[in-house]
Amino acid sequence: TTERTFSIIKPDAVAAKQTGAIIQMILDAGLTVKAMKMIRLTRPQAEGFYAVHKERPFFKDLVEYMISGPVVVSCLEGDNAIIRYRELMGATDPAKAAEGTIRKKFGKSIEANACHGSDGPDTAKVEMSYFFSSLEIVGE
Ligand code: CMP
Repeated sequence: TTERTFSIIKPDAVAAKQTGAIIQMILDAGLTVKAMKMIRLTRPQAEGFYAVHKERPFFKDLVEYMISGPVVVSCLEGDNAIIRYRELMGATDPAKAAEGTIRKKFGKSIEANACHGSDGPDTAKVEMSYFFSSLEIVGE
């Protein structure tokens, strides 16, 4: 089934000029970009986006990192897009990510791990609507 997922190319990857290479990997994996923009997150936006992690020890650092520079947010579409994008990203910790994945190639640490992707259909909907209105999504 065709579905949509939400992606963030994180500040470390944007700063390292890896945005283009990551988008190319997404396209080569057969996913379609339905919406995309570069933004700099505010602290409240980053805290809200990662609210499920707010009790975790890494939350404060994660928010600081996510507001440290611009990110590229996008909506991706394809057959089983959520799982396929998670496979393309690789494990959260780049040191544990498989060869050929975005995080293996471009991740610097478990925090600065180059990209984010939704973990399921419900979070995908919430995350997409957090950053995009329906008017910003191609074909709607
Ligand atoms: P992401 O998929 O964006 O979801 C939460 C993020 O927290 C995760 O990727 C990592 O970048 C970051 N993070 C930092 N430390 C940890 C950790 N110890 N375990 C899991 N995620 C972490």
